[in-house]
Amino acid sequence: MAELVRRNLPICVLDDETELVEITTTKLARLGFPALGTSKAEDALGQVRAGACRAVLADVKMPGMDGFAFLEKSLQIDPNVAVILVTGFYSVDSAIEAIRRGAHDFLCKPIDEERLVKALDELAEVSTRRSQIRALDEQLLSNFEFEGIVGRSPAMLEMLDMARKISRHYSNVLISGATGSGKELVARAVHQMSPVAQQKFAVCNCSALVDTLLESQLFGHMRGSFTGATDTRPGLFEYASGGSVFLDEIGETSAPMQAKLLRVIQNREIQRVGSPEVKKVDVHIIAATNRELRNEVMAGRFREDLFYRLSSLEIRVPGLTERIEDIPILVRYFLKKYSEAYGKTFQGLTRRAQIVLLQHDWPGNVRELENVISSAAITATNEFIDVADLPSNLRKPTQRMGAREENWRPLPLDEVRRVHIKRVLEMCGGNRVRASQILGIGRTSLYRFLKREPSEPAGKHAA
Ligand SMILES: Nc1ncnc2c1ncn2[C@@H]1O[C@H](COP(=O)(O)OP(=O)(O)OP(=O)(O)O)[C@@H](O)[C@H]1O
Ligand SMILES: [Mg+2]
Repeated sequence: MAELVRRNLPICVLDDETELVEITTTKLARLGFPALGTSKAEDALGQVRAGACRAVLADVKMPGMDGFAFLEKSLQIDPNVAVILVTGFYSVDSAIEAIRRGAHDFLCKPIDEERLVKALDELAEVSTRRSQIRALDEQLLSNFEFEGIVGRSPAMLEMLDMARKISRHYSNVLISGATGSGKELVARAVHQMSPVAQQKFAVCNCSALVDTLLESQLFGHMRGSFTGATDTRPGLFEYASGGSVFLDEIGETSAPMQAKLLRVIQNREIQRVGSPEVKKVDVHIIAATNRELRNEVMAGRFREDLFYRLSSLEIRVPGLTERIEDIPILVRYFLKKYSEAYGKTFQGLTRRAQIVLLQHDWPGNVRELENVISSAAITATNEFIDVADLPSNLRKPTQRMGAREENWRPLPLDEVRRVHIKRVLEMCGGNRVRASQILGIGRTSLYRFLKREPSEPAGKHAA
């Protein structure tokens, strides 16, 4: 049994005395550990870099790079490699120093074999358990992936359960949730689970088009009904007849458009632009919003009757901070996706990187997490993604919060608003559509604000 476990711990032996290297590697190999030896620290670092060893037995006193320098370099390369320092000059102080600097153990020469084997067996045990957990995680991943939606938290399972029930019977359904939380994925899953899964699924982003174009896209138009209408065309409601139409960002639609949508939802009737003919359509309607529609109704920006029609069946997609237990499995999922895409292999994240992810407040939800992992997968050079591979705004969350508190000043509200909008814009890499969604304001309000801001390019442009 021990032999089997020992096979999971390849060890590199580093000592400037070649004879000693020879003796130790032979001994370790006889005990069942895959062992490689070298008298050059650079070679040993190369092995750590290549992931060829999980533990290094390193001499402290060597010409050139000594054991402590080696320790530091190898931990930089792979924070999870176990370095056991071996010295002819043992002292409690130096042992403490070694452990403090990240050594796994500090042994004196001649090596007490029993003690060494005990330490190595423990490491082999941990290494084996880790690979078992990874294998289990892979299995779990397939258990907890449903139509491309990954999640195992109670909030997510409950939401999926609801989606499953609704999908069998709905004719209209509203999917609500914060930006990047996965509404579009859920919409597709609802269609996939519905009795019309074999029929078309048409997507319309209601915020991307001006009213006239949106109307023609959804309802179709007659030739000559407006400039540029060179032919007669059916809209998405006709195109997806028998299937589903996904109305994304329905909260962004204008009052006249809301009236037209209400007519489709209530009577399943449409009229092509420029045509007097009223047609019946048979479509399932899935609408999504990242706004709190109830508040939009109260603010007079959304029709109450349309809201009640839509929200009688509602699926709420929880934000990422409501289900932080999903973060590790999502990370694994995206890591797999992007390591395949970039042809790299990753073992996972270092513990400290995992902690950073768990502490972040994820205003951009799963999309933000996916971006973080995909860019880390590009830049990371080691088997384990570490804190340095994460964006700087994530790295020191607790400190950052502290700093925020310390910097608190009694500012006028307008100033707070200005600083906040700028921060959100920065977080979105200047993407104004995304920023306006997170801020919960219309894009026009954001543009108006930017025009007033002298430091923004938009402001300069307007001046
Ligand atoms: N549970 C999940 N499992 C796997 N991937 C997810 C999950 N949720 C979201 N994603 C991914 O995150 C990204 C954003 O998801 P999606 O576009 O569905 O969000 P959204 O709620 O529609 O966002 P927005 O409000 O900004 O339109 C997509 O790349 C999607 O594949
Ligand atoms: Mg979306």
